[in-house]
Amino acid sequence: MSSVIATTAIRGRFLDIQNTVAQARDIHDQVRYVEDGLLIIKNGKIQWFGSWQEGQHQLAAGLTVTHYPEQLIIPGMIDTHIHFPQTEMVGAYGEQLLEWLNTYTFPTEIQFQDSSYSEKIAEFFVQELLKNGTTTALVFCTVHPESVDALFNAATTRNMRLIAGKVLMDRHAPDALMDTADRAYSESKALIEKWHGKGRNLYAITPRFAPTSTPEQLQKAGQLKSEYPDVYVHTHLSENKNEIAWVKELFPEHEGYLDVYHHYGLTGSKSVFAHCVHLEEGEWDCMQQTDSAIAFCPTSNLFLGSGLFPLKKAWSKGVKVGLGTDIGAGTSFNQLQTLNEAYKVQQLQGEKLSAFESLYHATLGGARALSLDDRLGNFNIGKEADFVVLDLNATALQTLRQSKARNIEDTFFALTMLGDDRNIAATYVAGQAVYVKAQ
Ligand code: GUN
Ligand code: ZN
Repeated sequence: MSSVIATTAIRGRFLDIQNTVAQARDIHDQVRYVEDGLLIIKNGKIQWFGSWQEGQHQLAAGLTVTHYPEQLIIPGMIDTHIHFPQTEMVGAYGEQLLEWLNTYTFPTEIQFQDSSYSEKIAEFFVQELLKNGTTTALVFCTVHPESVDALFNAATTRNMRLIAGKVLMDRHAPDALMDTADRAYSESKALIEKWHGKGRNLYAITPRFAPTSTPEQLQKAGQLKSEYPDVYVHTHLSENKNEIAWVKELFPEHEGYLDVYHHYGLTGSKSVFAHCVHLEEGEWDCMQQTDSAIAFCPTSNLFLGSGLFPLKKAWSKGVKVGLGTDIGAGTSFNQLQTLNEAYKVQQLQGEKLSAFESLYHATLGGARALSLDDRLGNFNIGKEADFVVLDLNATALQTLRQSKARNIEDTFFALTMLGDDRNIAATYVAGQAVYVKAQ
């Protein structure tokens, strides 16, 4: 084998899903577990991946190999729905969606008109993602362009692949949080030109949800999407029963909630709809036919009492699903904790969520939901080298439980039930360690 010049080499125990699948039952065949593996990274991308035995001969002389003999290395986790300005209001007591927005969310978001405040929280937010092993996220900012600049600047400093956008909102919100249809268009356009495709940053047109946009604003959002077909659309859909009834009152001429977005050209393979807890049959078909994706946010759906997301229905309908924390309605930045609650949401519906299905949703499935599975989600050669080093024994209880694990599937399952940010030993972005847990 010819020798290659590598910038970084990592040796350890690797677990990933090799290929995107259409059905949950196919995931088992795609699991790749390399007990003593080697990852060679050059210019932020995976240059070689396989067993240590086979790969060690390719290492350039003198290259230091970072060895994680005890840990488990998985692809960087992907959060397909999160609000960075809501970081400080996680765990706000006692309300369901619409009252929660008015009581807690809108007053919090007003603060982000101040760019230095935006910068402070953006720094905290990005650091918290990395501390939790999340290397890519699809993020709501606020209506203020300053909030978008702050977040993309914080991501750029760490070379993270992040998708974000300015919120569009021109009714049913405090004055300080509203733009207009025209401003939504011009400010978003300027931000797309400034950030989309700059480094690893990508832009999402972000109408908050149908009730806070006039038809004129949704029309402008659709116009923007047709002018920039490569950018994302990110919004909320069918989260809460009162919300759905309100949409039907506001848009009586439409067939239902999703039809409002579809009518304005906002569905498609780069559209991500958070929640989708209460979709109607025709809406599932529209999601599938337009190749739109769902962000499943279990901690949020339980916290706000929104309902139980039917994950098996999404699989059977062939609709793409990623996992979202939905901070600050969600209660954790951590995808392991999010998977814990995803499992219980399925149990409450008489369904199972296997450990490998969980791994899929947190990594390659999330990448697929974001149309990024050609670049992210596993250790395939040529992909971007974002990954997480997991400590399996972060607590005494974990150590005892893991000592009884029957196989790698059980090991990963126990990790999703007991794990949190204490299990994140290190997070790598484009081959560089951007977070290392203090000893
Ligand atoms: N629907 C509209 N806005 C929001 C929000 O900020 N959080 C959640 N969970 N749902 C929403
Ligand atoms: Zn949300």
